[in-house]
Amino acid sequence: MSQQIAQILSLRSSSALRGRLTVPGDKSISHRLLLFGALAEGQSQFQGLANGADVCSTAQVLRQMGVEIEISPELTLVNGVGLNGLKAPQQALDCGNSGTTLRLLMGVLAGQKFNSTLIGDASLSARPMGRVATPLISMGAQISLSHERFAPLSIQPAPIKGISYHLPVASAQVKSALLLAGLYADSPTQLTGELASRDHTERLLPAFGVHLSQSDQQIKIQPGQRLQATQATVPGDPSSAAFWLCAAALIPGSQIQIDQVSLNPTRIGFFEALKQMGAEIDWEIQQHDPEPWGSVSLSYAPLKRLQLDAKDIPFLVDEVPLLALLATQASGNSEIRGAEELRVKESDRLAVMAANLKALGASLEEHPDGLSIPGQQRLQGGLWQAHHDHRIAMTGVLAGLIATGTTKIQGADSIAVSYPDFMQDLERLQQD
Ligand code: S3P
Repeated sequence: MSQQIAQILSLRSSSALRGRLTVPGDKSISHRLLLFGALAEGQSQFQGLANGADVCSTAQVLRQMGVEIEISPELTLVNGVGLNGLKAPQQALDCGNSGTTLRLLMGVLAGQKFNSTLIGDASLSARPMGRVATPLISMGAQISLSHERFAPLSIQPAPIKGISYHLPVASAQVKSALLLAGLYADSPTQLTGELASRDHTERLLPAFGVHLSQSDQQIKIQPGQRLQATQATVPGDPSSAAFWLCAAALIPGSQIQIDQVSLNPTRIGFFEALKQMGAEIDWEIQQHDPEPWGSVSLSYAPLKRLQLDAKDIPFLVDEVPLLALLATQASGNSEIRGAEELRVKESDRLAVMAANLKALGASLEEHPDGLSIPGQQRLQGGLWQAHHDHRIAMTGVLAGLIATGTTKIQGADSIAVSYPDFMQDLERLQQD
């Protein structure tokens, strides 16, 4: 049973972390399974769904549109209503802190015969929605945004046309929203451009019986394809596993293994970056279809400098805060560039990481697209501000494990967005 996480946490330096564990189900896969299960015909059954607040937001908004969803720790049941079976919601659909919920739903709602309004918390309401709305509007969708870019936003019924669209940013959320809208169009939808981002939608739609034609250069979807209910097991989230791999890479003597974790090649950029830094990390795929998963293990070893550029970022986009922390402890100067997308996540993660690391006594340089971080710096306890961002809060906990004195994390309750048992798992690894 998850315990509520305090708003302020105090951390002191930690001895080695040891042990074997599993992490919560993958958040990106969980959102998609719920959404695709809702649009399918028949009852879908999923094991190991993510238990954080973000995935609860997806379940809640789908329930508001008449989808019956039963979630228990063992099994999630979704009674699909079919591609055209969603009901008009009586109230605004509250996506909470979850960008994936809001952006994927925009694609689905563009094709419905009812009005809908999408809202979110303060962080989500400050994130750019034009990147999804602009191509949807060129498909014929009727969308009104706040200040032309933000949620709250409302969607009115309109006929949807297929388009050919060149994606200007590598974003799995945009790519997925457009493929979903493509199901409601009058002709095929074809995407080109920045397609290299996490590919769960491309892997999972076919598991529901939808055919996509795909290559590295384009993805094409035919409209009107009906989804059929399916069964799936959700592997652990590599973005949650990343916290323990990072902690073990920071604390001498640590040795950990994480089992049943997603090893989807579009999600393991962080594992590869750790390898580049000289970490003793290994992973092995045990199962392939539709999503590859297996075990990953890491034993502490001193780290070397890190060099990342734009082509690396989509495959470790959520792990950049952890890499910035690791860079402060590596030998040599690290460079993280081409990472301007970090500025429009749950917080401006480049600015927030720079400010927090400085508050713990580190020196580093912030650029419009990244950070330059000298290595072998001693961190001293201080105040770390989460800025309503779960990944920043958890990165702060890890900083507190290697800083001298006491580190206070302000806004630690946001951890429940993706990893409600984070502090319990930390305690287990400290005791093993
Ligand atoms: C996600 C895509 C990524 C990622 C987010 C989850 C998804 O966002 O940062 O945490 O499930 O599609 P972008 O699509 O904005 O890169």
